[in-house]
Amino acid sequence: MSYVEELFSLGGKTAVVTGAGRGLGRGIAEALSRAGARTLLVGRNAERLQVAREELAALGGEVLARPSDLGERAEVDALIEYIKAEFGQLHILVNNAGVTKPQPLLEYADEAWDETLRVNLDAPFRLARGLAPLMPEGGSIINITSIAAELGAGDNPAYGAAKGGLKQLTKFLAHDLAAHGIRVNAIGPGYFHTDMGALSWNDPERRAQRAASTMLGRWGEPEDLAGVAVLLASDAAGDITGQDFYVDGGWLAKL
Ligand SMILES: NC(=O)c1ccc[n+]([C@@H]2O[C@H](COP(=O)([O-])OP(=O)(O)OC[C@H]3O[C@@H](n4cnc5c(N)ncnc54)[C@H](OP(=O)(O)O)[C@@H]3O)[C@@H](O)[C@H]2O)c1
Repeated sequence: MSYVEELFSLGGKTAVVTGAGRGLGRGIAEALSRAGARTLLVGRNAERLQVAREELAALGGEVLARPSDLGERAEVDALIEYIKAEFGQLHILVNNAGVTKPQPLLEYADEAWDETLRVNLDAPFRLARGLAPLMPEGGSIINITSIAAELGAGDNPAYGAAKGGLKQLTKFLAHDLAAHGIRVNAIGPGYFHTDMGALSWNDPERRAQRAASTMLGRWGEPEDLAGVAVLLASDAAGDITGQDFYVDGGWLAKL
């Protein structure tokens, strides 16, 4: 193994990625698996998870799949128990699963607020709290936030509150878990070409406007998160914790 391969290798490590059946989670799971981690894919849709599991296994990874609705506390608790039994020790947790429920503020439904907060903020907290005891020194938690953790936008108060909360939860977890040698960081995507971004992608005007808001003039593709996810999961990031990494084509840095 070359020096660089060794630096970023996840061989011998275990990883859990939520929302791993499609989109950004699927891409992150592939990256971690290809870097050598034994990887558990979590999501709601069992069929989608199974397809992803088979695709990653075909690339040579050791991959497991576990359907769980992370909007249900009892299912999050059951997932934690499953991981304890299946893995014993966990090195990498990626809290990626998320929902967005845009609606005008004055009509914003309680159900949309509750689901967004439960999946995007409550579940990452519960998983970090429940799984940190399984993590040895060198463990890494990665929370997928958004540029919406930094900027205001229309018709989506719960999403902004959840992502801003997750950004700040990252720093508080980093503080508490540092004593155990566990690092906690956030990756904040800009606009990415996935099902979640489809509303804007499918509207030519919004698609062009989103691209023009970046410095690089482009949307992100799931594989654009591969490098930063492997870095943060690996021992190469041994002195990096409590940080936000925005993968947004320069959106937040642009005047
Ligand atoms: N795409 C973007 O432009 C963008 C930008 C900034 C941040 N993000 C964030 O990046 C993350 C991934 O987004 P994406 O674009 O890949 O979204 P996506 O294509 O809509 O996929 C969402 C993922 O989350 C899972 N999920 C949703 N609700 C769940 C629940 N109750 N229990 C378990 N899993 C659940 C889905 O599982 P199923 O497939 O089983 O439904 C799916 O795997 C999210 O946190 C999102 O907020 C995305």
